[in-house]
Amino acid sequence: MVAERDLAVNKILSNIGPIVGAKDGLVVASPSHRERDDLPDYYFTWTRDSALVFSALHQVWLLPTSSRSHASSSAILKANNAGPDKTFILFENLFRSYIASQATLQTIANPSGDLRTGGLSEPKFYVNGSAFLGDWGRPQRDGPALRALAIIPYAHYLLDRGYPPDEQYIRDNIYDPNKIVSPGKVVKNDLEEVAQFWAEASFDLWEELDGYHLFTYLVSKKALEEGAKLATRLNDSGAAEYYLEQVEAIQGILEQFWDGDRYYYISGIPGQHRLASDVFKASHNQVEKRKNIDLELELELELAKSKRGDDWPDRELLDCSLPLSIVHLNPSSASEVYVSRKGQSLDENGDHLFHPTDPRVLSTMYRYVLSFRGLYDINGDKNWTNGWMLGRYQEDLYDGVGKSKANPWFICTHSIAQVFYLAQTSFEATGFIQISNLTAPFWSDILHERITPGDRWTQGNHRFKKAIRALGDVGDEFLETSRVYWDGEGAMSEQVDRNNGHQRGARDLTWSYASFMTAVNARGNL
Ligand code: NOJ
Ligand code: NOJ
Repeated sequence: MVAERDLAVNKILSNIGPIVGAKDGLVVASPSHRERDDLPDYYFTWTRDSALVFSALHQVWLLPTSSRSHASSSAILKANNAGPDKTFILFENLFRSYIASQATLQTIANPSGDLRTGGLSEPKFYVNGSAFLGDWGRPQRDGPALRALAIIPYAHYLLDRGYPPDEQYIRDNIYDPNKIVSPGKVVKNDLEEVAQFWAEASFDLWEELDGYHLFTYLVSKKALEEGAKLATRLNDSGAAEYYLEQVEAIQGILEQFWDGDRYYYISGIPGQHRLASDVFKASHNQVEKRKNIDLELELELELAKSKRGDDWPDRELLDCSLPLSIVHLNPSSASEVYVSRKGQSLDENGDHLFHPTDPRVLSTMYRYVLSFRGLYDINGDKNWTNGWMLGRYQEDLYDGVGKSKANPWFICTHSIAQVFYLAQTSFEATGFIQISNLTAPFWSDILHERITPGDRWTQGNHRFKKAIRALGDVGDEFLETSRVYWDGEGAMSEQVDRNNGHQRGARDLTWSYASFMTAVNARGNL
């Protein structure tokens, strides 16, 4: 799969900047611009897609050499006929052009607001960097969080490198401890946006539902955690404290998303743009008042959940945003995989940590996969453990151009493979697997034998080894299934026709390539 991954990197690079007709540093979601009736107009730059793409590219250049994907780098080297240092220079320049492009976008007033009033959560812009004024599901609050997460690792890299110009570069372009919100300080601005507005409703990553979304909360929380670390490193302790207060507040509402009757995390809760925002903004730095607001938010979520808003479709809320959350909260490089401190479940405070080994997470993945049983002809009567093409959610109608019947998506199929790889590496590092009521059916399926709750397998044990192997094998089956539907030179669109397996929706979707690349990188035994 290494060769295919390298191909994916090259496909990504051809969707960024002037080579695809976009401003320097801007990632185009897809070059599709309705040149045919069956191709939608995706010739825009989405904040979410772009951030995810650059986060994926870090794996080619920014990770410590021990975990960097050598094969990927060498493919690019060959393509560019350059030496190893040149690859790094190439990527660093590309990444700086991304940061510069985002600094400009942040200053463009748009229908979601401007730099200070929520405009960073505008979902998409034209590829020349101007605001898109048409109707759209906006704002989408995962965007600024994902962008901060894409840039923060580079800030740490620069701080480690430590040249005076690097430090100046950070102050000018990423984070200046002496400025709160001001043009150019991309990460600081994003962190302030997330910290101020996270509790307000927004559209989900599929741009369809206004409300409160687990994916959005999880990436917001992660961005603020990482933001607090960066702030601390830059001696901005006040900001770090403020971000960590928000982290705690977000943590406090996550339990609302666990559905203990159905054994999975639901993806969202209905809501509208009315969440105590004025009170919230006025008091965001006053801890006491904050507590009341958290309580208010909790009550509001409780209420919304029990009512299921009228404008919300009836849905199981089992959604590909769940594997995607796990993928984007848990780093893909094996060397960085987090080892859970306690019992692979909740931490000492009973907090939801969303590790790939958490029984609630595995149970959610299992139920998400099974929700596609019998839905798509192309999966035939295969057992799911032999790899199915998976969609966004079973009730989806978006066929890639309009509304009819939706199809499976590459990113969803890749994300489930990646979760299994992450689980594999984490279990191996933790050294044991504890079987619970929640996870026994999952393990029974992938081990093809009846597994009972209460079992505990430890390193060296035959079952443990078998389980570890099975996780990798099942992941591979999903990636192999995806590969069946690639076109010609490894091209991937957004969707795959549920009946005949032809590619559907936007062609050469940048995110499809990024998701394949990170899945392969998460694979333990390359
Ligand atoms: C385009 C959006 O990007 C997609 O996510 C959505 O499903 C369709 N519009 C239909 O609303
Ligand atoms: C539609 C997807 O639903 C959304 O998540 C994505 O950002 C856009 N397409 C662009 O790829």
